[in-house]
Amino acid sequence: MARSQVVKFFYLTTAIDYANGSPHLGHAYEKILSDAIVRSRRMEGLQCHFLTGLDEHGQKVQETAERLSIEPQKLCDKVAEEFQAMCQLMQVDYDDYIRTSQPRHTSVVRGILSKLYENGDIYKSSYVGLYSVRAERFVHEKDMVDGKWPEDFGDVIELQEENYFFKMKGHQAWLLDYLKKNDEFIFPAYRQKQVLEFLAEPLNDLCISRPKSRLTWGIELPFDGDYVTYVWFDALINYISAIGYGTERFHDFWPADVEVIGKDILSPAHAVYWPIMLRAIGLELPRQLVVHGWWLAKGGEKMSKSLGNVVRPIDYATVYGSDAFRYFVLSEMSVGQDSDFSHELFASRYRADLSNDIGNLLSRTVNMVERYCGGTIPPVEVEEELERELKFLAKKTIGDVRERCRHYDFSGALESVCALVRSANRYLECRSPWKLAKGKEKDLAEMKTSLAVAAECLRICAALLIPAIPQSAEKMFAQLGAQTVNDWTALDWGNSLAWKRVCKGPVLFPRIGEDDDAMPAVSAR
Ligand code: MSP
Repeated sequence: MARSQVVKFFYLTTAIDYANGSPHLGHAYEKILSDAIVRSRRMEGLQCHFLTGLDEHGQKVQETAERLSIEPQKLCDKVAEEFQAMCQLMQVDYDDYIRTSQPRHTSVVRGILSKLYENGDIYKSSYVGLYSVRAERFVHEKDMVDGKWPEDFGDVIELQEENYFFKMKGHQAWLLDYLKKNDEFIFPAYRQKQVLEFLAEPLNDLCISRPKSRLTWGIELPFDGDYVTYVWFDALINYISAIGYGTERFHDFWPADVEVIGKDILSPAHAVYWPIMLRAIGLELPRQLVVHGWWLAKGGEKMSKSLGNVVRPIDYATVYGSDAFRYFVLSEMSVGQDSDFSHELFASRYRADLSNDIGNLLSRTVNMVERYCGGTIPPVEVEEELERELKFLAKKTIGDVRERCRHYDFSGALESVCALVRSANRYLECRSPWKLAKGKEKDLAEMKTSLAVAAECLRICAALLIPAIPQSAEKMFAQLGAQTVNDWTALDWGNSLAWKRVCKGPVLFPRIGEDDDAMPAVSAR
C-alpha cells in the first residue's frame, strides 16, 4: 500500500510495568482495560495497534538482581516471561511488547539524547539536593505532604552530584496553555487538577542522568560513558521507539490516540515530562491520557505484601476463567476512581450477572430450542407488545453500549447489557414457552417466537460483550449457531438466527458455592 493510502492506526499504549516483581492486580487491570478499549475500537471498524511492555532499567531492578545473584538482564528475561504469560492468560491481545533493554529501544533513546544535547537542551551541572532513594529521583520540599515525605519516597537523603539536566523551565507557559485549551487531553478531566497544581510552582530542570558509580543497569549516555539515563526519561520513550521513531512507518501510528496509565504516574511523568520531551524533539503530544484509579484491598487499604492483602489475578483467572476476572474488574471500577477488591464483591457479581443472568439466559434458551424445536431456532412468527418492547430495548442498548465504550465507561456498558439480559429473562418468564409448548397452533407460534426473540437478544448481547469477555462471547455465538459479529456498525436486531442449529455446550459460568473458603483466598504469597 502506498503511504498516502495508509490509514492512521488507532494507537494505544499502556504504562510499561517495572521489572522488579511479579504481575499484580494493578498491572492486570490496566492491561485488561486497554485490551477492552482496543477491542471496542476494532468493533467500530478502526485499525488498531496495541502496545504494552516492560520497564527494565533502574536501581530497584539492579538491587533485586544483586540479591538473587543474577545478571539484571537474566532477571528481566524471567520477569518478561511472567508478564507476557499473565497477558496471555487474561486474553490481553497486544500487537507489540516492548522491553526497554531491546536494541530497538536503546538506540532510539541514545539518538534522542544526542539530538537534545546537540541542541543545547541538555547541560551538565553540579547539584546538591534531596534525593528519594525509593523514587530514584531528586525531590523538593513542595513534594512533602503535611510536612512529611510521602511513604513512596522511602529514605530522603541529601546528595551532591554532577549530573546532566534537561531544560524544562522554558516550557511551563505553553504547557499550561495547552492543558487549559485541551480539557480532553486528560481523561477523566478532574484528574487535570493535580497537574495544574504541579505547574503552579516554577518548573525545575529535570535531572536525567545517574552516575555509573551508583547505577549501572541503564542506557549509557551517548555523550558521557560515566553516566546512564534516568529511568523515566528512558521509559517514556518506549511509546515512540516501539513504532520505529525515525523511520517512515512511525507516522502511521504517532500521535498515540490513547495512553493508558494509573493516577500515580500522571503528574509529573506523563503530563509534564513527557509533553515537554516530545515538544523538544518536535513531536505532537498524544491525543489523550486515560488515567485509571487504584485497586485497593477490602476496606480501602493499600495492597501490600506486608499487610497480606495482595490479590493474585492469576489465581482468579485460573479458578474462574479469565473472562470472569475481566468482567469483574471492568464492571466494578469506574475509570478514574479507586475501587476495592474483595472476594465477596467478586463472588456476588459473578453469581448475579454471569451465572444467574447471562449464563442462565443462554442455557435455558438453547435447552428449550433443543427440547421444543428439534434444535433449530425458528423464525419470528408473531410480534406483539412484549416482543416490540424487547426489540426496542435491544436496539437502544446497542447505541448505549457503543457510546459508553467510546468514553471508557465499561462499567456502565456492562450494566446496560445486563439490563437487556434481565429483560429477556423476564420476557421468557412472561411468555413461558414451556407452557405454550403444550398448547395449540397459536401457542406454538408464540412459543417459537419467544425462543427466537431470546436467541436474538443473546446474539446482540454476545456482540456487545466481546470487549469485556471475548472467550465467552465466542462461546455464546457457537452455542447459538450464529456467526461471530465483528463489526458493531452493522449490528442491528434481525432475523439472522432463523433455521440456525443450536449447539449446546458446557455451562458458561458454572455456579460457585456459598462457601467462601472454597475460593482462592485474597492471600499473601
Ligand atoms: N514503569 C512505570 C511506568 C512507566 S510508563 C512509561 C511504572 N510501573 S509500575 O509497574 O509501577 O506500574 C505500572 C502501571 O500499573 C501503572 O500505570 C500503575 O499506575 C499501575 N498500578 C500499579 N498498582 C496499581 C493498583 N494497585 N491499582 C491500579 N493500578 C496500579 O509505574
